[in-house]
Amino acid sequence: MATVICLFNHKGGVSKTTTTFNLGWMIATKEKRVMLVDCDPQCNLTGMVLGYKKLEDLQAIVGNQEPKNIRDGLSPAFESRPTPIQAVECLAVPGNDNLMLLPGHVGLAEYEVTLAIAQELSGSVVTLRNLPGSLRHLIDVTAAANNIDYVFIDLSPSLGPVNQNVLMTSDFFLVPMHPDYFSTMGIESLATILPKWRKWAESAREYRVLIEADYPLPKLSPKFMGSIIQRYRLQKGKVPAQAFQKWIDELERGLRERLLPALAKADMLLPPNVYAAVGFEPEQPLLQMSDFNSLIARSQEHQVPVFALTDEQLDQQGVVLQTTKSSMEKFRELFSQAANRVIGIVDHAARA
Ligand SMILES: Nc1ncnc2c1ncn2[C@@H]1O[C@H](COP(=O)(O)OP(=O)(O)OP(=O)(O)O)[C@@H](O)[C@H]1O
Ligand SMILES: [Mg+2]
Repeated sequence: MATVICLFNHKGGVSKTTTTFNLGWMIATKEKRVMLVDCDPQCNLTGMVLGYKKLEDLQAIVGNQEPKNIRDGLSPAFESRPTPIQAVECLAVPGNDNLMLLPGHVGLAEYEVTLAIAQELSGSVVTLRNLPGSLRHLIDVTAAANNIDYVFIDLSPSLGPVNQNVLMTSDFFLVPMHPDYFSTMGIESLATILPKWRKWAESAREYRVLIEADYPLPKLSPKFMGSIIQRYRLQKGKVPAQAFQKWIDELERGLRERLLPALAKADMLLPPNVYAAVGFEPEQPLLQMSDFNSLIARSQEHQVPVFALTDEQLDQQGVVLQTTKSSMEKFRELFSQAANRVIGIVDHAARA
């Protein structure tokens, strides 16, 4: 079965979508089949991968064909259709043979309210019993149909029921952050909310109606894979500028003193030797990267990761081109190292 990893932070704009695309692509270059899943009704990931025109075309498709996005994939459960949930027809991401996309849909937001009720009343309302397990079921059948090893789920910046459900039914989660005041404050609320969600999942799994549902709530225990800190300025092209280093230190302190102890108590941490085996401590970022500068605009323009742009796509000459290419090379190395860590953690966790 595929390993499911979600990228979660209720803080907006901390590079969740950008990292899903770049890291997922990198893992797909390492002989793994990867599926990106857009669970954010904003559909930024789908837009980033396919371009926004294609996204509009996709959402306009209606009828009885195979589902082509997350909302239509879930509709049998959420609209009580007599047909079972079936695999979504994923799209092959241009330029990478091992990368697929399960597209998003703005209408996913309409299911939030029903899912909230289903999750609140987990034990008592029989007609809603199929909803809590339906998301992971849809992801599993779609991953199986596409022979997928790794699933990366991009989430919206909220503490809503879809995020609660996806996180609690994932195998691992990554927490992207920016080195600033707001991300530091965000750690505090993560330390409060994640154990609450875990408590909900623990008790929901015991409810008979959910166990006996068509799509039972899986018995999983999501583990913290690591944090990702990015988007700071460099000093002399090397280390983070002082103002940013201060926030990076603050984030590490917040993780060490607040988030990790809370996660450990809620059984959401891996054994320490799993992180050590791939070369980092859980309070240190799994991936730390500076601002992409001009590469981000080119990446979005061509729907290619920041580390995979061609000279033609960079559209620069001489010294400027050389400088851009050398920073691109650094980003490639960092994403590659992060991809190896992700793969290593999954392998070690399976053996732990
Ligand atoms: N390392 C980076 N360097 C430069 N720009 C970046 C970097 N990472 C992300 N960005 C830019 O920052 C903005 C926010 O990034 P992104 O959309 O990935 O964040 P997000 O956490 O998914 O946001 P949301 O919470 O709205 O879903 C985007 O415009 C993106 O292009
Ligand atoms: Mg996003």
